[in-house]
Amino acid sequence: MIALGCDHGGFAMMQEVKKHLEQRGLEYMDFGCSSEESVDYPEYAKLAAGAVASGECDKGILICGTGIGISIAANKVKGIRAALCHDCFSAQATREHNDANMLAMGARVIGPGLALRIVDIFLDTPFSNDERHIRRIDMIEE
Ligand code: RB5
Repeated sequence: MIALGCDHGGFAMMQEVKKHLEQRGLEYMDFGCSSEESVDYPEYAKLAAGAVASGECDKGILICGTGIGISIAANKVKGIRAALCHDCFSAQATREHNDANMLAMGARVIGPGLALRIVDIFLDTPFSNDERHIRRIDMIEE
């Protein structure tokens, strides 16, 4: 189960992400927002991040205008490792090295074609399970 959260800046792109997940047969929980009307991104970041932190969802996808605000807010939730990615290399590396459990993107930064590629890489790349990466992740949680 994938938790989704966006603000007005990310709303249109999130609709593309939802269509894409449906085409892939992947289930999601949409924590909003629900239109392009101006809202406050921390509210939606925290709802989606809370669902990942509690185990209700396995991973999450967050979108705002830049991806910055929504990732900062999500990373305040204990247990969340939200990675802001606008390229395929970072999306793969953050899964392998950081075991990132949320992906953040900025809809004003990249287009939907690249965003969907990044979503696929993020969802399909397993954590490396390397000892050094586990140690470093544990240090983040301390
Ligand atoms: C909203 O205008 C914008 O500030 C927000 O989407 C995001 O870019 C914040 O980091």
